[in-house]
This record gives sequence, structure tokens and C-alpha cells, in this order.
Amino acid sequence: MLPKWRRRALVYKLFGLFPFGNRLFDTVRATVGLNRNFDLTRRHYSIVEMSYMLAQAGKSVKGKDLVEIGAGWHPVLPALFYGMGANSIVMTDIVKHIKQSYVEQTLDYLIAHANEVADLTKIPANQLLTRWAGLHPHGKPWLKHWSDRGIDYHAPFDFRKTKWQDNSVDMIYSNSCISYIPKPTLENIFQESARILKPGGWIAHNLMPYDDYASSDVSITPLNFLRYDDESWERIGNCSLHYQNRLRPIAYLSLAERYGLSIRFLERRQHHIKKKMLIRSELDEEFRYLPEEELLCAHFLMVVDKCDF
Ligand SMILES: C[S@@+](CC[C@H](N)C(=O)[O-])C[C@H]1O[C@@H](n2cnc3c(N)ncnc32)[C@H](O)[C@@H]1O
Repeated sequence: MLPKWRRRALVYKLFGLFPFGNRLFDTVRATVGLNRNFDLTRRHYSIVEMSYMLAQAGKSVKGKDLVEIGAGWHPVLPALFYGMGANSIVMTDIVKHIKQSYVEQTLDYLIAHANEVADLTKIPANQLLTRWAGLHPHGKPWLKHWSDRGIDYHAPFDFRKTKWQDNSVDMIYSNSCISYIPKPTLENIFQESARILKPGGWIAHNLMPYDDYASSDVSITPLNFLRYDDESWERIGNCSLHYQNRLRPIAYLSLAERYGLSIRFLERRQHHIKKKMLIRSELDEEFRYLPEEELLCAHFLMVVDKCDF
């Protein structure tokens, strides 16, 4: 019998065979899967970490024009940034995932946690509450309600060719997204990001560069996907519905540097990846000799700048 993670990979592949496999998978997810009664505390970390990254990088979103890559299902960060005073936000995704009920749930969650968010962001709770109350659709069609307030949703959207003007965006950000994008696509996304960013603008990406199949299969470690060569991993582990690029932190930094972006803030966290999980002889040659901090990184926070000179 195949291990659990490989059976999960096969399910993704199976859904990927259907023309609207992504939509079908979302329906299953919403009715009997993870999103049926999604617990938004599972996304609270994205608020904590994005606030931390902005503070560490000395950045504020107040009055700024923002763009998100891979907005996902629950628009936690756009609503957060709106509360913090962003001027405009464009959420993008390769697949249209957001639904009315997810938007309402997100605002209910943020409103209920306004004091905690105020502590994290140093934004007064009454400002957050006033802005979130206005953003809550309360049954009105959310797309128009949000668009009237400067938040637009483009999905499906190809971030490699946004067609937006040069130097038009202050901040591009993502949470738990760019490790799921194939490297050639990501290369184009970094190039496009550097083009559309205003001088002085920045990119903030928060990502988890470990094998996410390990979160539902205790028989493997979060380093499991590094055991395969490229050809085998593409065949066994990847498909259009669920793709893990396996890039290590240094690869993201190289991409940023290639397009003239400079490092403003970085943090590599190990969390649940323990030293004893690193058995170099089991890793593919491509990874075997990399520094420990590259291999054991479970969580990578990066902020890079487009210089304004
Ligand atoms: C793990 S989810 C994270 C969603 C959300 N950012 C969050 O933190 O809840 C990854 C997201 O990346 C999106 N995605 C995958 N490949 C993408 C690509 N090439 N361009 C833009 N988004 C992509 C997926 O559709 C999905 O919404």
C-alpha cells in the first residue's frame, strides 16, 4: 500500500485531470473538507507574522497601494491592511477561491480579535473596528462592497503579465504561496514585481519551504521531498493542483537580487524541523550539501526593497 502522502498526491492528480479540477476540489473542500467549518485561528499566524515583518522592516501600509499574490480562501491579510489604513489593495490568485461566506467569516473573526490585532499592529482598536465594520458586507455582494472601498479581486489572474504600469505599486505581499509556484513561473513573477513596484516600494513574502505532505502523514518528515531528484518529484509529488517547488531560502533571495531588489529583512525559523531529521545521505545530491539553515528552514520571512535611487 502506498504511504498516506502518496495517496494524497494521487487524489490531487485525479482532480487535476478534470477540466475544472480546481473548482471541483474547492467544492469538496467547502462541503466536506477543511473549509467546511474552517477555524480561522489557523490563519492567525499570518497576522502576527506580517505585522512583525512590517515592523522589522520599518514599513507602514498607511496610504499605500498594495497587491497580493495568491490570496487564497479567507482574505485575512487584505482586511488587516485595510484596517491599518491601506489606500488600495488588489488581491490576485491563479484560482478564484474566495466566497461571500469566507469574507463574512474573516471580518467576524477580525472584529472579535480587534484588541489583539491592535496590540500587534500598534493601530488603535477603534480605528480597526470602524474600518472593519464598514468593510463587512453583511449579506451584500462582497465584490462590489469591497471594490467600492478600494479592494479588488482578480482571479484567475496571471501575475507574470499583470499589464499594470511600471512603478505603480507600493507593496507586493504573499502568505504561504510562493513555495507552491513552479520556479520558471516564479522567476517571471519576481521580474514583473520589480517592474511594477514604485522606487522605494517593497515585497514581503512569508513562506513555508517544507514538505507540506508531512503535516498529514506522520510517517514522513518535513524534509521528505528533498529526497527526490527533480524528475522523480515532478512525477510523484507534483501536479497542477498541488505543486511544491522545493526551493530553499537562498533561491528566493537570488531571484530577488537578480531583479535588482535588495534585502531589507530576513528570518529563517526552524519550528518543528529538528536537527535529528536531517540525514544528509538520504537527500538528493541537489540538496545534500546545502548549509543546515537552508535545509532545516520551516518558515522563511523575507522583505526586499526596490531602491529609490
Ligand atoms: C496555501 S494557499 C495560501 C492562501 C492564502 N495566502 C493564505 O495564507 O491563506 C496558496 C495560494 O496560492 C495560490 N497560487 C498557487 N499558484 C499560484 C500562482 N502561480 N500565482 C498566484 N497564486 C498562486 C493558490 O491558488 C492558493 O490560493
